[in-house]
Amino acid sequence: MSLTVTTQLPEFAPAEAVARIAAASRRKQQPQSSGDLVSLAMGEPDFDTPEQVTEAATASLRAGRTHYSPLLGEAELREALAGKLHGIAGTPVSAADVLITHGGTAGLAASILGIVNPGDKVVIPDPTYSLYADLVSMAGGVVVPVPLAADLHWDLDRLADALAGAKLFVFCNPSNPTGIVHSRAELDALAGLLDGTPTIVISDEAYADLDYTGRPFASAISVDGLRDRTIYCQTFSKSYAMTGWRVGYLWGPSPLIQSAARIHNTFNGSVNTFIQDAALVAVRTGDADIARMRAAYEHRGEIMRAELAAIPGLALSAPEGAFYQFPRYDLDIPSAELVAKLREFGVAVRPGGEFGAHGENHLRLSYAASEEAIRAGVARLGEGLAALRRSHG
Ligand SMILES: Cc1ncc(COP(=O)(O)O)c(C=O)c1O
Repeated sequence: MSLTVTTQLPEFAPAEAVARIAAASRRKQQPQSSGDLVSLAMGEPDFDTPEQVTEAATASLRAGRTHYSPLLGEAELREALAGKLHGIAGTPVSAADVLITHGGTAGLAASILGIVNPGDKVVIPDPTYSLYADLVSMAGGVVVPVPLAADLHWDLDRLADALAGAKLFVFCNPSNPTGIVHSRAELDALAGLLDGTPTIVISDEAYADLDYTGRPFASAISVDGLRDRTIYCQTFSKSYAMTGWRVGYLWGPSPLIQSAARIHNTFNGSVNTFIQDAALVAVRTGDADIARMRAAYEHRGEIMRAELAAIPGLALSAPEGAFYQFPRYDLDIPSAELVAKLREFGVAVRPGGEFGAHGENHLRLSYAASEEAIRAGVARLGEGLAALRRSHG
């Protein structure tokens, strides 16, 4: 005789933090891919992780590196990253201020939850990577989105107004979703706006290795006036094609890192030991791999841009960094609706509105895809837009 046990949850309402995230979040789950769909929607490299990094993880496991790691991360990895950060910041960096995190996501979460109290004002560009607003809402902070200028760079006048009384400013450079790279002059201007204020900055530089401007990439931590108030947030995901490995790191002024570490340790404990061993090999040996993948993205970005330029009604953004194009379209259809219709034409892209109210009327296309997929996907986009233009007069 089998016994059937039915369980019923007693009265339950999710925590208010959950409701706050749900209310704030613009992130929508994309539908499952169906048969003949070309995806230009992914926010991750299509390359495999460099072979020697994968080998290092396997070797580490075989060597029995399956126990807990120190809470702040493996000392050797933190030392190696401190050396790398010294080169970026131009000032000595102590490994004591490097925290290894479960990817960029957990680094951002630990930073934001370690800084923001309920009611605190947090300024973010609009559009920007949508996780920032979700995390600020989780903490009970007040998100103040600042519309970008028409060229998708910062509107410094609007930024100056918004930053008054702000606890925190969070941005990414190069930018997801716009593909814009903020120059040293822009960062200097930000430092000028913040001079004399207690506002803290989080600089998410996940795409720092993917800058095609021809100028040296300017990290916020290389800028006097920003370095002393900035948490630098980095991940192995994009540079090394390691999205599934879930490893990243933070560096910044000691009190900010200690605060983030307290949150990170509470949420996550320590980061996987063998993954950190592999990350160390990536730092030591991955430069040629980064250069190889970067060159491929740059080439693919040019192909995508040329194909998009032939489509009427699209205004293209400057191709500066990351692996995104963020064209503006002239149809009178909300971006989420347009994206749903485009799927019927066999191409998946992301709605600009997912990244902020001012991302509306844009689409985000990723060129971390094969040349074939880029050509086919953009052709389908062109067909879809032409058909919708006919039906919308
Ligand atoms: C700007 C930006 N920061 C952080 C992340 C998160 O990266 P991770 O995979 O390391 O969590 C992403 C991922 O798309 C991103 O686009």
